[in-house]
Amino acid sequence: MPGRNKIFSGLVFVFAFVFDSCNNGTPKTASNGSDFDKGKEVYARTCTACHLSDGKGIANTFPPLANSDFLVRSKTAAIIQVIKGKTGSIIVNGLPYNNIMPPQQLSDEEIAHVLTYVYASFGNNGTKVRPEEVKEVRAGLK
Ligand code: HEC
Repeated sequence: MPGRNKIFSGLVFVFAFVFDSCNNGTPKTASNGSDFDKGKEVYARTCTACHLSDGKGIANTFPPLANSDFLVRSKTAAIIQVIKGKTGSIIVNGLPYNNIMPPQQLSDEEIAHVLTYVYASFGNNGTKVRPEEVKEVRAGLK
């Protein structure tokens, strides 16, 4: 049936066109870059306020993400930390903290990217975090 085929290829064309124009409509911001770049952007608007742009934090108030032994110990704990935040005492690099980190309202992708950025920066060990891993940890928390 040639008529149907024509309609079908017409539809494919329309979909391809709509899909393509959506992509073209996306502004070229840092968010279109690598996971590292996207994470850097999330970090700047979300974490810098407390952990500072160099990740060193403030002694006795905001623990460091720079060379953090907490981050090395467990990727899962790092993911949970961002999803749920934390109150109560914690020791990071030998110094005690007892403060409040509010839960961060971020998507699985944003958390994966920001942690990938943090792990690749500030003297940390380059661990990569994928959105599927965040999704899994989040599902386990419910
Ligand atoms: C409002 C301040 C605040 C913001 C914003 C914040 N944190 Fe925290 N963060 C804290 C505090 C305070 C602690 C320690 C909590 C405690 O004392 O129990 C902490 C602890 C941590 C820890 C575990 C300890 C360490 O230093 O390794 C990680 C990892 C962490 N934050 C990552 C992040 C990331 C990533 C972001 C951004 C997505 C973020 N935080 C945003 C205040 C904040």
